[in-house]
Amino acid sequence: MQRKPFTAPTILVTGSNGQVGFELRRSLAPLGNVVALDRAGCDLSKAEGLRRVVREHRPAVIVNAGAYTAVDKAETDSDLAFAVNGVAAGVLAEEAIALGSLLVHYSTDYVFDGTAPGAYVEKDAV
Ligand SMILES: NC(=O)c1ccc[n+]([C@@H]2O[C@H](COP(=O)([O-])OP(=O)(O)OC[C@H]3O[C@@H](n4cnc5c(N)ncnc54)[C@H](OP(=O)(O)O)[C@@H]3O)[C@@H](O)[C@H]2O)c1
Repeated sequence: MQRKPFTAPTILVTGSNGQVGFELRRSLAPLGNVVALDRAGCDLSKAEGLRRVVREHRPAVIVNAGAYTAVDKAETDSDLAFAVNGVAAGVLAEEAIALGSLLVHYSTDYVFDGTAPGAYVEKDAV
């Protein structure tokens, strides 16, 4: 029986110049073919462009390390903050489902109080 040649899975990392994204570029490299994209390569505020990028690369894993992180500015720049932190996460989730891919999304650490004994789930009180 002939074995299929091993193809390293494509891992798409967004926000690759950020603190988390930069570290993930290095730490994920042994696990697959890392496609690390910064804002210029993958603008999270442009939903249709974001879909196109995901469909082009067809990643097995999407790691969303990009985020609008200027917390105070987000109060006045709420449309952009919502597009990047809210809508884009939804777009990535939809594309991941369509591809059968895994999506890893990093939330802010200002949502839960950190006292739970185990992992938090989506329905936990914020
Ligand atoms: N760092 C931590 O210790 C920590 C802890 C808990 C949770 N987190 C979460 O992890 C995520 C990343 O945090 P971080 O510390 O790495 O933040 P960061 O250093 O501010 O990096 C955020 C990255 O997102 C990019 N970005 C912003 N708007 C974008 C857009 N429209 N399209 C594409 N990329 C965009 C930024 O690009 P530019 O460089 O072009 O601005 C930047 O590279 C956040 O959700 C944060 O809440 C981080």
